[in-house]
Amino acid sequence: MSRLTGQVAIVTGAGSGMGREIARALAQEGASLALIGRRSSPLAETAALVGGTARTFAIDVAQWDAVERTIATIARELGRIDILVNNAGTNTRRRSWKDAEIADWDVVVRTNLDGVFFTTRAVLPTMRSQGSGLIVNISSLAGRSASVISGAPYSASKHGVVALTQSVNLEEWRHGIRAACIEPGEVATPILEFRPEVPPRETWSDMLQPEDIAETVRFIATLPSRVLVDEIAIRPRVRRLG
Ligand SMILES: NC(=O)c1ccc[n+]([C@@H]2O[C@H](COP(=O)([O-])OP(=O)(O)OC[C@H]3O[C@@H](n4cnc5c(N)ncnc54)[C@H](OP(=O)(O)O)[C@@H]3O)[C@@H](O)[C@H]2O)c1
Repeated sequence: MSRLTGQVAIVTGAGSGMGREIARALAQEGASLALIGRRSSPLAETAALVGGTARTFAIDVAQWDAVERTIATIARELGRIDILVNNAGTNTRRRSWKDAEIADWDVVVRTNLDGVFFTTRAVLPTMRSQGSGLIVNISSLAGRSASVISGAPYSASKHGVVALTQSVNLEEWRHGIRAACIEPGEVATPILEFRPEVPPRETWSDMLQPEDIAETVRFIATLPSRVLVDEIAIRPRVRRLG
């Protein structure tokens, strides 16, 4: 299907996990893609997987100057920005109140929260001038209710992502801009390797898979622009975590 032909989509954290599958789904719908992440080689792999025409930008979303420069380049070279998927995110091994250091708080909050604020702030002028735009933020079930497994910094950052989504909708709807928040439970991706106790491999097939989140993004992105999806919480049927 080609329901997004003519649209330009930016996916952050596109080199692995959900970001790679989200890029694939949006490319299947005909969108032109700009892929963001810190490491260039996984981004190049994703670009090759989605057909080779995607642009890649190896930057840290927590660096405002780099984000501003990159988004300006995308708007100039691709001509417009229709969809921003804020998917880049991280966690650290030290995440309990007993273990987390200030450095853990900094890296998690700067990536998960500053990163979403920075990319959103950077795309809004282009979306306003177009009179349209969709921002899809990947929060977490830990953004609805704090989680011991995720830890305080991650839970706080993902609650913040929900608030950023809501505030975009409160202020920007007049300009034709919509924001949606997806709040996944456990998804089988490399981020699980950062857990203090990595879930046993035999449990990964019971978790959500990256393509499940990609299908959710596809669903949101292909709805008519009159439709605003505020939040979608999505979890595995198997209740491994209770
Ligand atoms: N897996 C789960 O159970 C789960 C559940 C709920 C929500 N989430 C959220 O889902 C999103 C995607 O994560 P994932 O599960 O697919 O894990 P993942 O495979 O580790 O993906 C995270 C991606 O973000 C990129 N990234 C990390 N820090 C970055 C930074 N500062 N600047 C730019 N890119 C950065 C990473 O690439 P580089 O290292 O190359 O930068 C990586 O490609 C995250 O926001 C995560 O918090 C995950």
